[in-house]
Amino acid sequence: MDKFLFVLGSNFQLSIAELDHVLRHSRFKGRIVDYSATIGVVEFEKLHENEFYVDDLMELQFMMGGCQKIAKVYDFIPINMVKDAFPLVMDKYKIVEKNRTKIQKILENCIEEIFPTIKNRNIFYAVSIYPEFYDDEYYSRILVKHFLPFLNKKIMEILKEKGASKALYYKYPEEYIEKGTLNPIFPHILIKYRLFEEDRAEIIFGFTEEGIYIARTFTCDNPNFKKKIDEERPHKDFKSSISPKLAIIMLNFLNLFHERETKKILDPFMGNGTIPMFSILEDFQVYGTDKNLEKVNNTKRNIQWLMTELEEELPINLDEKFLQLDVKDLSKHFPSNFFDGICTEPELGPFFTTEPFREEIKELIENDLNQKYEYLFKEAQKILKNNHRLVITSPIFATIEGKHLQINVENIARKYNFTLIPMIDTNRIVNKSDKRLQFQGAKFRTIIDAKKEQIIMRKIHVFEKRG
Ligand SMILES: C[S@@+](CC[C@H](N)C(=O)[O-])C[C@H]1O[C@@H](n2cnc3c(N)ncnc32)[C@H](O)[C@@H]1O
Repeated sequence: MDKFLFVLGSNFQLSIAELDHVLRHSRFKGRIVDYSATIGVVEFEKLHENEFYVDDLMELQFMMGGCQKIAKVYDFIPINMVKDAFPLVMDKYKIVEKNRTKIQKILENCIEEIFPTIKNRNIFYAVSIYPEFYDDEYYSRILVKHFLPFLNKKIMEILKEKGASKALYYKYPEEYIEKGTLNPIFPHILIKYRLFEEDRAEIIFGFTEEGIYIARTFTCDNPNFKKKIDEERPHKDFKSSISPKLAIIMLNFLNLFHERETKKILDPFMGNGTIPMFSILEDFQVYGTDKNLEKVNNTKRNIQWLMTELEEELPINLDEKFLQLDVKDLSKHFPSNFFDGICTEPELGPFFTTEPFREEIKELIENDLNQKYEYLFKEAQKILKNNHRLVITSPIFATIEGKHLQINVENIARKYNFTLIPMIDTNRIVNKSDKRLQFQGAKFRTIIDAKKEQIIMRKIHVFEKRG
């Protein structure tokens, strides 16, 4: 069975959750058969049977927020063989030699598949290693310093032996190899070095607990494009804006994969319009509201800018779809059961540069935020169709006393007949022995998106309205 390797985003739990969700509900049916904190390995039910499956992979790539690259798997090296060939402590030379020769044999076979014609060709390749975890000692000490040079050298020898007129490989900056902090090549480098073209390739060595998947990259995220939308739009506010990746992931959890162009969705706290902008790109019929008129105008200008950038006509009447409206008045404006989905990041409270006191946050939640979430669910119950979804973030505050405080969103949701949909379906995820990779327990009903030592973290929840 053909396998595909997906390079995950920096929050691997969120990426795995999104990938599994897409494989379960979109037209690209499949399953994650193995994973680590950097890659997911997928078997599709049908996609690979299509002669032009690379087009499908590109569509899939564009549709997902938490996937950096998609590659086709050509071969596999069992973990024992790797550990015997490249041990942390080098003492049994014979075993090392024997297993390196075995790996070389595997390489010979798959290099011929990755480059169907080698003779008289001018070939360029880049080797990227994805460890189980970037902070593994095995990665910095062994993989970067010994395995990477071994691969570069052996692949070069194989290509020369098979008659390549020239063979070159991508050289990583020496200082990162020295430090062991090497990053596999970023998508923009893949694009710059034209690694999707014939005679050129990125060859990925992706680790899981089981072994290494050897794969060739077929598509990658276009970070320049998302970055441009995020950074160059006329109105932005990094303090309160959601990231493009997270916006796209949340949109996927609305579970509206079929005939998206007919699905009406709403962001009732749209701010400068990150979610609406990415909703347009991802084909939805999007509406947006905010109580602050300046924000409404900002969103409209941002969308106008986006359409000019895309050289597309404005598909919508902006004044009809983007309105100044308090969340508590949504049902005064929109008819009952009007929307197929609601996707939003409600007010997060003030922007804290230092950790606030517990009392301050308690007050903020009780006197302000709770009410906004109450109104949101109350109104969503009216304007959202039955069995349709509300995907939202809520803040978690790190306080000076070392405690984390948050809104009890589930309690509010229950009051208005919304059920929480777990973001990870643990029955569909293969078991892993490393605790850091496990998805068991109630913890993964919602997922937290945060950088280290962030004061306000975002928690993502998926709810479904019951009739
Ligand atoms: C965290 S921001 C949303 C940021 C947005 N996701 C973005 O990327 O720009 C929250 C927004 O909620 C709006 N807001 C606050 N209270 C509101 C209310 N009662 N009704 C509607 N909008 C409200 C604020 O004006 C603000 O623009």
